[in-house]
Amino acid sequence: MAWHGHRPVDFLGNARHCQPFRLVSRCVSTLPNPIPMNAPATQGTLMGKGLSTLWAPFSPANRLNPYPMYQALRELDPVHQLKTGDWVVSRYADVCTVLMDKRFDVIDMPSYFRYKTLEINDTVVDLYATYQASYNWLLYLRRPMHGRTREMVMKIWPTLNFADCVRTVLAELAGQMAQKAAIDLIDDFAKPLPVMVISRLMGFPETHLEELKYWGERLATVFEPMLSRNEMVEINQAAAAFLAFVDDCITAHEQKPADTMIGKLMAQRTVDGESIDRADLISLIANLFVAGEETTRNLIGNGFAALTAFPEQYERLRQQPELLKPAVEEMLRYDSPVQITSRMALEDAEVSGQLIRAGEQIYVCLGSADRDERQFDSPDQLDITRLKNKHLAFGYGSHFCLGASLARMQGMMAFQLLLDQFPTLRADLPNAVQRKNLLLRGFGTLPTVRV
Ligand code: HEM
Repeated sequence: MAWHGHRPVDFLGNARHCQPFRLVSRCVSTLPNPIPMNAPATQGTLMGKGLSTLWAPFSPANRLNPYPMYQALRELDPVHQLKTGDWVVSRYADVCTVLMDKRFDVIDMPSYFRYKTLEINDTVVDLYATYQASYNWLLYLRRPMHGRTREMVMKIWPTLNFADCVRTVLAELAGQMAQKAAIDLIDDFAKPLPVMVISRLMGFPETHLEELKYWGERLATVFEPMLSRNEMVEINQAAAAFLAFVDDCITAHEQKPADTMIGKLMAQRTVDGESIDRADLISLIANLFVAGEETTRNLIGNGFAALTAFPEQYERLRQQPELLKPAVEEMLRYDSPVQITSRMALEDAEVSGQLIRAGEQIYVCLGSADRDERQFDSPDQLDITRLKNKHLAFGYGSHFCLGASLARMQGMMAFQLLLDQFPTLRADLPNAVQRKNLLLRGFGTLPTVRV
């Protein structure tokens, strides 16, 4: 594996990550970027510029409940072209086609931040730390780099003891929740759970839990469309701080090897004398850290809200806990934590009779596919006994979620705990607040009541 000889190129044909790793200062660097500042940005999401009567994901009503919009798209224009030339694909079968067909591949989103600068109070602020943190994410790597990096992570995956870690964290959280008069299911349970689990698996020091929660949340929004300048700066600051933190953790592992995810990745990267460099490793660690947080949080938050909204389903689950597995799958389908992903056509390709030209971007609506009446009976109904449930909440094809088994385990063990130890807890839906995110759908706060 001559990794360095296979660096992918971005859309300008530049070798990716040709700069040596530059450990940025712990605040936003105001120094000029080492890359020419007038270099054009390659990709950023143009979603915000391509609204239409059918596609209005930013309207407050659609943010709150995008499912009627998806249904109209599926019905009236399932492969829908926007003014920007980009496409929105909403039916289950078409979503599968785009995710499986090799004529489509992922978009090199991180490169947008590589050249991006903002002028703030006469100072030029670069967003290079955001690029550094995200350029080696599996989600944004293409063949053959994607396969090699994924294989490296897959090798260590089965050696990690997920179940013990999840069990310990859940016991701690349950103990804290039991002391509380009022429980917010997000702040007290769904948010800390995946951060604590992945941090312990990684070997991150426990002392940084609050920062890790903040960094994870900021970094997870990095590819949301319509970020404000302030949000971009905040994300970049979080990226810079997180990069420095991970760099310190790697140094600590070098000084004192440990059998953690970081330790295993460090050992793995030099297997057979081949290596990826430190910067690649840090960005990959960022990927594994960020990818499983808000997603798992949304599974628990959205799932709990859905069970509350369908009380007969909650009652059935309470009486038949053996339904836990299909129930978690149904929660993933019913209100998918990841609503939208994107791809680009590498060559001209037809999807359901529409010609998508090379270079055009496609918004792939997983959340819509999972409510497609062509695939699921009564799709707007939460049915924990659903038998035919090949949902796309974890994606499909070569980028299928690498953490699906860990996510499912956390989901099942979390709901088992809620059923066993907090059986009267329900979501206080009128007082719940949805986050404004578009790609990752979930609650910011989810207060609870006892019934
Ligand atoms: C309920 C929780 C989760 C959901 C709904 C979810 C969803 C997804 C989806 C939809 C994709 C594919 C995106 C695409 O094709 O564009 C994906 C990829 C990925 N997920 Fe997850 N995920 C979850 C939890 C996790 C966890 C716990 C981890 C790891 C700790 C993780 C790590 C990854 C990685 C590394 C990828 C990229 C895989 C690749 O590109 O080869 N995810 N996830």
